[in-house]
Amino acid sequence: MKIITLSDYPQALNKTRSPWHENYYAMYSSVLGGVVTDPVLMQVPLDDHLVHRGDGVFDTFKCVNRGAYNMEPHLRRLIRSAASIGLEWPGGIDDIRRLTLGVLRIADRDVCSARIILARGPGSFGVSPYESKRPALYIVVYAGGSPFMQRKPEGADVCRSHIPVKHAKFATVKNCNYLPNVMMKREAVDWGVDFVVGFDPDGFMTEGATENFGIVTPGKCLIFPQMEKVLDGTTMKRVMELAEELVKNGELASVGFGNITIKDVDEALEMLIVGTTLNVVSVRHFDDKPIADGVPGSIGKALDKMIFDDISGNAAMRTIY
Ligand SMILES: Cc1ncc(COP(=O)(O)O)c(C=O)c1O
Repeated sequence: MKIITLSDYPQALNKTRSPWHENYYAMYSSVLGGVVTDPVLMQVPLDDHLVHRGDGVFDTFKCVNRGAYNMEPHLRRLIRSAASIGLEWPGGIDDIRRLTLGVLRIADRDVCSARIILARGPGSFGVSPYESKRPALYIVVYAGGSPFMQRKPEGADVCRSHIPVKHAKFATVKNCNYLPNVMMKREAVDWGVDFVVGFDPDGFMTEGATENFGIVTPGKCLIFPQMEKVLDGTTMKRVMELAEELVKNGELASVGFGNITIKDVDEALEMLIVGTTLNVVSVRHFDDKPIADGVPGSIGKALDKMIFDDISGNAAMRTIY
């Protein structure tokens, strides 16, 4: 077996160049103390507990026309997620914001996504978080996906997931233990649907692999599952604010949280999916049955347009880099 020394390393890394690297624009690593723009250098140490224990938290936001959309709620959720697992970045939220905007400037893209990962950091291959010497911060800027309805205007096909839902303690924290989420996405791909959604042991709807779900009831109420059991999606919260416009003009009766059963979904006028990359998605089929008449409804379409305009045009929601 070949032993690779420090001097052989650049050549070994160079051989790992891959076509998908063209989507990776820049990465900050506190371990390296700087930014790399060559994708083969975008590495994380194996002894970071992030890698071998999933011990870390993350958040992802998107940027359009050089504006980071809704960045502050993403940063606050990152800090809250970190605090809930006893992790703290020494420079706090201001330092993370400064570094993130710095990487975005170096990446120099009008449209992209940014993922911030706050990790327990290197220190051992053990499980104890106390064996990490200091937290590590990684920030990567890469090409994000396009809004779902642009790709599939006829709407999404969804099935009920068989993966046990996460305990509320973990579902509400955006931590790097995403194995249940990964398995949900695997189900969706294997079953030939766009998304799957979880239901808890009480029969109440939870969320998707990386997105929140809601319904419009026959009484025109827009309802999302109680936030105590799911990730408090930044898109969901913003969509709920924007939806108040539809309440004012009478298109919706109310906007709020509630328990959603399979029966509620079967009877719903619309089923919606919301998330950072997706914007607002209308579901056309749930478990092979059409939602209402099986075409995107007016509320979903209106909200998708509202969030699109918010992302590209609402100066108050954009941090320019
Ligand atoms: C499990 C889960 N639920 C919901 C969401 C949607 O959150 P946001 O709208 O903040 O992207 C995400 C985002 O990745 C997620 O991972």
